[in-house]
This record gives sequence, C-alpha cells and structure tokens, in this order.
Amino acid sequence: MTDTVRLNLQFNGKTLVFDRLYTHVNIATMTKDGPAYGAVKDGVIGVTDGRLAFVGRMADLPQNHSASETINKHGQWVFPGFIDCHTHLVYSGNRAAEFEMRLKGSSYKEIAENGGGIISTVKATRTASEDELATAAAKRLCHMASGGVTTAEIKSGYGLTLNDELKMLRAAKKAGQMCDISVTTTLLAAHAVPPEFAGRADDYVTHICCDIIPETISQGCATAVDAFCETIAFTPKQISRVFDAAKKHGLAIKLHADQLSDLGGGGLAAKYGALSADHLEYASEASVQAMAKSGTVAVLLPGAFYVLGETQKPPVDLMRKHGVDIALATDSNPGSSPVSSIQLMLHMGCTLFDLTPEEALAGITRNAAKALGLGDRGTLEVGKRADMVFFDIEQPAELAYWVGGVVPSDIVRAPSSLTQS
Ligand code: NIG
Ligand code: FE
Repeated sequence: MTDTVRLNLQFNGKTLVFDRLYTHVNIATMTKDGPAYGAVKDGVIGVTDGRLAFVGRMADLPQNHSASETINKHGQWVFPGFIDCHTHLVYSGNRAAEFEMRLKGSSYKEIAENGGGIISTVKATRTASEDELATAAAKRLCHMASGGVTTAEIKSGYGLTLNDELKMLRAAKKAGQMCDISVTTTLLAAHAVPPEFAGRADDYVTHICCDIIPETISQGCATAVDAFCETIAFTPKQISRVFDAAKKHGLAIKLHADQLSDLGGGGLAAKYGALSADHLEYASEASVQAMAKSGTVAVLLPGAFYVLGETQKPPVDLMRKHGVDIALATDSNPGSSPVSSIQLMLHMGCTLFDLTPEEALAGITRNAAKALGLGDRGTLEVGKRADMVFFDIEQPAELAYWVGGVVPSDIVRAPSSLTQS
C-alpha cells in the first residue's frame, strides 16, 4: 500500500466516501519533491465537501469506496487551479493612447512624469462608481477564469484617497462574487503620489499610515499591503513607514520592487518578511539572498517586461542559486500589462525569462499560493481545496508551449463558502 493510500484511509476512516471521483486522469500534483510536475499517471482524484479526499494511482484506489458521481477523464491532464497572484483588475478607462506614445519613442517613466501613466487611470477610476468598477473588473476576471484561474489577487492603487481606495477594494470583492472566483485583496495606496499631494509625498504617506490603513482594516477590505518602490513612486524610507503601519495592523506585505532601477526593493521586502517582492528586473544579488533567507517569493511579471520593451531580465539564475521560490503573474493593468491570460505568462516566462515549463507552472500554482500566504491550495494533495483545471493535452509542457494557451476541457472550483484551512 502506498503512502498516499494510507493517508487517505486515515483521512476518511475505513470506507472512502466521495461526492465525486475523477478517474483515468494524469495528475500534475505540482508538489515540490518527486517526479517532474509531481506527476501521477493514470490517476484518480476523489472530492468530498469541496476538498481533495484522494489523490493517487488508479491501481491504489481501494475497492472499498463509494462515490455519488464518477467521471472518466480518459487520460486528460489535471492541474491545481491557476492562481494569478498579482493583478490590478479594478480600474476605469484604458491607456491605448500611451501605448501609441510609447511606440513613437516615449518611455513609461517619461509618460508618468508628465502626468500620464498611473495618474491618468486614477482620474478615470475616481469618477467611476463601485458598481461600474465591479462590472468592468468582473468582465476581465471572468475572462481570466475561462483560462483556468480559480484564485486571483486584486490590488487597489488607482483611487489614492481613502474613499476611492476602499471603493476599489469592495469592487474587487464584488467582481470575485460575480465570477465565483476566489479573490484576495491588497491595499496599494502607495502606488503613486496623488495630484493633491504633489510635492508632499511624505504627507501622503502619513495619510496612508494614519487613516487609510486603519480604515481598510476596520472595514475588512484587504489582507495585505503593497507599495511601489521606485524613483517615480516612493522611496525605501517612505515605504518602510507604510510597512511599519501595515505590520502594526496585521497586514501581510508585498512590494513592487526593482522594476525600473535597483533601489534595494527586494532586500527591503525581505527585511519586513514580505510574502513576495514583484517585478525584480534590477534586483541585486544581495536582495535575492535576503529574499531567500526570509522566504519571500519572487513574483515575475513577463507581461510588463514585454509591453514596456524592457531588456534587463530578472536574475533568475541567482534566484535558483539561492533557492528563492519563483511565481509568475499577469500584473493585469491598463498601462504596463494589458494582459488577461495567465497561460500566456507561462509561455513568456519560458521564452523571455528562461524558466522551464515546470518552473513556470509551479509559478502559477504552488509558488503563487505561497506569494498570497494561502496554504490550502496550489498543489493537488489530500485536504486541499478542490480547485482543478483539466486539459486534453499529451504532456504538461504544452501549456507553456502553445502561444496564447489551451482551452481547458473542464474547470472545477471549490465552493466559495469553503473556509481557508
Ligand atoms: O505593476 N509598477 C507599478 N504598477 C503597475 C503599473 C500600473 C500602471 O501603469 O497603471 C505594474 O506594472
Ligand atoms: Fe503591478
């Protein structure tokens, strides 16, 4: 008897009772040690009460079981539901005009410094109602979900006033309900200095620390805080103040770090025990080492790298050398990454950042779950949420190989009422 079967017998007593059994399925469990992709060939998955109750080989499924429903998957592959751990899905308007400007030679930084960029989306987002934002975000989120995403993180950051930031976070949650997708929300008030605080960034940081963070907590609008550490945004010193306040209020920490220049953002995130530091094109070896020590996940965003025509790649070899877990995300936003396909990020992670298809897939499953602090998903193991995406493919690498992705043959989502374990 294998360990898997023993585990399941313990989990569910002597007779295995399932709501649903998926038989003859090739399982990419995406667990860390063991065969590539944690693969189990000709496997079976049992689901009970929205959780995985059996994951193993067909040959190891005890005779002594019952299931309300059995579905033969005829050799399809199944993966943990995909997790997009970095998005800015709530916003109004779009920035196609800036895309045209960049094609004519203006840089992202120049556009931002001349009042475009993030601030132009802030203007549009402030005038939109919560319902308008939720409806627009739900359109994007449902599209994302159709490619196999079952969990998405959504940030604020285009409101930059107390009311507009909270409006964005509520809209993000509503969008999740509208698409029946699990959504986590992150406060990104420190995304840009709003026009009314021009030349007074420190005062805006004080407002974030003293008003926006406490109110976000008291209204239960977010579980994490994020900030943009960059010459066109906030200094490490200002961000330290935001993180100190966030820690005091029990928020998890994330950081847009070292995207356009090396301000030591990766190291700063690590110092605060951040769940993740994201972008990281310009991260130094010292930052990577610090992240390895603190267990901070490196979230790579090939969509922004591609759209901005970046040439400096994130230091993937150093991340491997020091043992930093790597995640991949869309960074879906109207400026630097108008992207809604997580599978395209698999392809770009491989072609632009030299990840292996297995590393890329771990980046939108196991490591993406870690980047969000979610221990109940990201791999297919007994006790985890039954969030699964099935594909009619011959091998897992196809998901990174086909440009633009593969249409899932089936998507299974645990009920949204399922509490985090
Ligand atoms: O992650 N880098 C900062 N924030 C976003 C861009 C947002 C925007 O341009 O609207 C990002 O790329
Ligand atoms: Fe971002």
